[in-house]
Amino acid sequence: MNDAILLVDDNATILEIMSLYVESFGDNVILIAKSGNEAIDILKSNEKISLVISDFNMPDGTGGDLYKFVKSNFPDLPFTLQSAEPLEFLDEFIGFPHSTKENYLQKPFSIDQVHGVLEAVFSTDVASDNKYVRVLISTLKKYSKTGVDAFIKLSEKKFVKLHHFDDELDEESLDKYLAKGIEYFHILEDDFKIFIKSCQDELDQKLTSPNLDAAQLAQVKFNSTDNLLEGMQAIGISEFTLEQAEKITDSIVSNIPKKSDIAALIKQMQSGETYISRLSLLTGNMAVALAENVSWSNRGTYEKLMTAALFMDAAWLSQKPAEDNPELLEITYNDSKELGQCPPLIQEVVLNHSHSSAELFDTVKSDGDIYNLIVDHHERPEGRGFPKQVHSSQISSLAAILIFAHEFSHRLIGCGEFNIAAFTEVKQDMIKEFSTGNFKDPCQSFIKICS
Ligand SMILES: [Fe+2]
Repeated sequence: MNDAILLVDDNATILEIMSLYVESFGDNVILIAKSGNEAIDILKSNEKISLVISDFNMPDGTGGDLYKFVKSNFPDLPFTLQSAEPLEFLDEFIGFPHSTKENYLQKPFSIDQVHGVLEAVFSTDVASDNKYVRVLISTLKKYSKTGVDAFIKLSEKKFVKLHHFDDELDEESLDKYLAKGIEYFHILEDDFKIFIKSCQDELDQKLTSPNLDAAQLAQVKFNSTDNLLEGMQAIGISEFTLEQAEKITDSIVSNIPKKSDIAALIKQMQSGETYISRLSLLTGNMAVALAENVSWSNRGTYEKLMTAALFMDAAWLSQKPAEDNPELLEITYNDSKELGQCPPLIQEVVLNHSHSSAELFDTVKSDGDIYNLIVDHHERPEGRGFPKQVHSSQISSLAAILIFAHEFSHRLIGCGEFNIAAFTEVKQDMIKEFSTGNFKDPCQSFIKICS
């Protein structure tokens, strides 16, 4: 058996591109794992693996967990870490790389960098036919176009063109080659980057398309409790996550003393009947969904986020200005025109409601994390929120999740006419505005959920 290479990443695009890079290198068997724990299971049952190339940030077992397992159980197995995060931020990788069999690829990486790692580990030159690189036909079947000419190898020096760059790939013809025992197409080395770009574009397009088609998404509305659930599934939150979030909400509500005024306020929040309650529910569910994709989160994290979402605007429910001016509830930025046009007293109420809601929460339970989350729920990137106006790097990682979920929910509910175009616009704006500092984690989770 040839060397097996285990590729580990929770991002489908990266796994595909990495597979193409590795396939083009030599006769290696490629094994795929979508999490650190899945990779550990594969390693336990497969002793032929000669190299692990792993991402760091994954929901079910990180690259750090995997590296620790490899070092304890297979100390000589070469390990390459590929990550968007600088090594110095990753505690498990202090002093990494420790030897020539260990490598670090910072995303985004190139085919040359990946081949460099393979050459170092397997001590060989890239591809024997230096004019051509190989692509498995079974891999090509996933794409509709190559964007380049493709050839079949007849002998050591003879290649015949069988696919024109502009043609659609025909699955039936590809199957015929496979039936004849032909496993590879060959692509000119100079064309390989164009081919990878074409594959990447096609994958990205598939992954960024909404889960529902236009007709289904047109039915989605965020103006009632029933529609809220349907809407959340339509934007990519799984049924499992929604069930989890509902159980957490029920347990939070059942722990509030029944006869207290707060119990009545939170019941209103849970109802989904008003803008403010729909915003709370959507924010809480979205925050749990975002947290599920963040490596350091657990059930305790979800509970804190959901509690903060239920309480964050509780103060508004007992405030006269909000009853008279519902539009005040929609102010989320300190530099917004709407806030600037309010009389100073009203501005003060808007800017103070986070603190007032946190104080209300404090009468029910003493929890500093949740208190701070409620206070911070209107902070925004670049210090454009309130009341503290802190910057993205100073916002806590936990608060960043709630804030991301809050702003996204606010924009989604605010879409008068909900359709693919409106959703795509909200999605793209969020990714553009919330990709700095501690917002990076929720932003990456968000891309996963909505793809
Ligand atoms: Fe608020």
